[in-house]
Amino acid sequence: MLILGIETSCDETAAAVVRDGLEIRSNVIASQVDIHSRYGGIVPEVASRQHLLTIAPIITEAMSRASAVWRDLDAIAVTCGPGLAGSLLVGVNTAKAIALCRDLPIIGVNHLEGHIYANWLEGAPPDFPALCLIVSGGHSDLLLMRGHGDYELLGRTRDDAAGEAFDKVARILELGYPGGPAIEKAALRCSSTPHLLPRAWLKGSDDFSFSGLKTAVLRLVTEPGGMNNRGSSLIDDKSEKAAIAASFQKAVVDVLVTKTVSAATRMEARHILLCGGVAANSALRDELVRRSPIPTMIPRPVLCTDNAAMIASCGYFHLTAGERSGWNLDVTPNLRLAHSA
Ligand code: KG4
Ligand code: ZN
Repeated sequence: MLILGIETSCDETAAAVVRDGLEIRSNVIASQVDIHSRYGGIVPEVASRQHLLTIAPIITEAMSRASAVWRDLDAIAVTCGPGLAGSLLVGVNTAKAIALCRDLPIIGVNHLEGHIYANWLEGAPPDFPALCLIVSGGHSDLLLMRGHGDYELLGRTRDDAAGEAFDKVARILELGYPGGPAIEKAALRCSSTPHLLPRAWLKGSDDFSFSGLKTAVLRLVTEPGGMNNRGSSLIDDKSEKAAIAASFQKAVVDVLVTKTVSAATRMEARHILLCGGVAANSALRDELVRRSPIPTMIPRPVLCTDNAAMIASCGYFHLTAGERSGWNLDVTPNLRLAHSA
C-alpha cells in the first residue's frame, strides 16, 4: 500500500511517500525556521501563509522523488491535530482536494501518534507493550502502548513541554531559535555541568514539570549574583553560557531518562520508544540508551523532528485496521492521544 503523507501542524511543510507503513520512498521537508527565527518564535499567521505557498511544490517533489504518479497511490494520510489551526487547515484541505480528485481514501492522523510511528520506519518493529516518551515543542507525554492504537497516558507535563523549556532557556541565554539545537551546540563547548539546577521529580507521579528549571536559569543570569568572577553578566560570557546550557540540558535529560526508565520497569514494557523533536538531542539519546535495561528505539534525528513519513506510517496502520476519515474531517488544534487509565 502506497500512502502520501502530509504534515503542516506547525512550521514545517512536509510530504512523504511511504510503502506499507515501513519503507520511506520519499520524505520532503520545507522548514520555515529562517522566516520565524527573526521573530524569536513561530508566528501562526505567517506559518499558515507559508504553508499555502509551499504545500503544492513539496507534494510534487515528494511524488517525483518517490518516482510515483497519482494512480500509484492507495491513500492519503494527513495530520489533523494537535497544532496551529491555520497551519493544520492547509494540510487537511490539500489532502481532501487530492483525495476527492483522485478518488482516494483519506485518514486524519494525530500528530503525536505520528511521532511514535517514526520508530516503525527504522527497521524491525518494536515489541508491545512499549513505553513511549514523546518530547516535542508542545508535549512531554509518557504513554504505554499495548498495541496499534491502544494507548494509556501515564504522565504528561504539568507546565512547559521539554522542547518549550529548551526554546525558552535558549531565549534567556540569547542563543537563538529554535532553542533545542542551539542549546545542544552550546553545551558541547562545556565538558562539565557546573551549575546545580533543580529537578522536579514529582515523586509517585509520571508527570513532568520544567518551568521551575527555566526560572532557575533565569535567576542565574538576572539576579545580582548572576555575574562571573570577572564581574560581567553570565550571558555576556561565551563559556559561562555554555556552562549554563550544559547544566540545563543535563537536568532535563536526567529527569526524562529517570522517569522513563522507572515507568518502563514498573509497566514491564518490552521496548522504550523515544520520539518528538527533542529526541534529536544526542545527550538524551545517549543517556537513555546507557540507562535503559530494555531495548530502546530512537528514530534518526530527521525523523524525530516534524516530518510526513511518520504521518504516512501511522495512517497505514489505521487504514489497515479498517478506519478512514469522512469528508467532514476537520482540524482539532488541541487533539489528545490518550487519557489516563
Ligand atoms: O516535534 P517537533 O519538531 O515539533 C513539535 O511537534 O513541536 O519538536 C520541536 C521541538 C522544539 O522545541 C525544538 O527546540 C526541539 O524540538 N528540538 C530539540 C532538538 N532539536 C529540536 N531539543 C533539544 N535538542 C535538539 N537537538
Ligand atoms: Zn512534532
